[in-house]
Amino acid sequence: MNVLCNARKHHLIYRIVKMKTSLQYLPKITTFLLWLLSLGVALVSYRFLALGLEAAFPGMMNHIANRNLAFILHISASPVALVLGLFQFRPRLRSKYPGIHRWSGRIYAVAVVIGGLTGLILAFGISDRPIAAFGFGTLSILWIGATARAIQLAMAGRMAEHQRWVYRSYALTFAAVTLRLILPFFIVLGDMEYSQASNYVGWISWVPNLLIIEFYLRRRKAGKTLTVSA
Ligand code: HEM
Repeated sequence: MNVLCNARKHHLIYRIVKMKTSLQYLPKITTFLLWLLSLGVALVSYRFLALGLEAAFPGMMNHIANRNLAFILHISASPVALVLGLFQFRPRLRSKYPGIHRWSGRIYAVAVVIGGLTGLILAFGISDRPIAAFGFGTLSILWIGATARAIQLAMAGRMAEHQRWVYRSYALTFAAVTLRLILPFFIVLGDMEYSQASNYVGWISWVPNLLIIEFYLRRRKAGKTLTVSA
């Protein structure tokens, strides 16, 4: 009986230690996935450079025909934000090369303003899908707003708050990745056309991101979380 109890105890301890060891890798795995997915989506977005607009985005003919410049600016600037945002979180870049951090932050902000304003123009262009249009429109405004607030706080030297708003800004930038991850579920499992699916992904691509980052920031403030440094 005693031997059985001891064996169970050892097994339990073994499992707790194993779980803790796997949890240690969680920030590294999260960081790796963030980079992989963001770089992947950014690179795939630039396929139009090789294929041309029509062949690269056959489902976006409405934008290509009616708001060509806004569309080109959007798909050129937004991926820049997606990639540069990743570098902004690197603690070593911030501490060793603050000049590069500041410049890449400025370019990130310009990319967000261009991507956000043109995103808004594209959203107005899909008024036949009002739920999607409202979702993308709200995202555009919040994206620009969160980024502007982050810059304003940095200029005021309020760095802790600046960092929190950068997290929020990038959570919104990351909507581009979330959208492409969840879209196949609607199209394949939900048997929907893109136009119908966009009414869902126009919201689900970013609302959960904001909730997750808010939860993360609260836990971090309370000192309860593992740090993820993209
Ligand atoms: C976060 C704010 C963003 C907003 C509000 C936004 C908005 C939009 C809208 C409204 C469209 C047209 C969709 C449709 O007609 O159904 C679109 C397409 C597109 N956006 Fe964005 N976007 C954002 C971020 C990004 C980012 C960060 C990227 C970077 C990769 C990106 C890349 C693209 C591309 C490549 C398209 C063409 C269609 C596709 O490949 O799915 N967008 N965006």
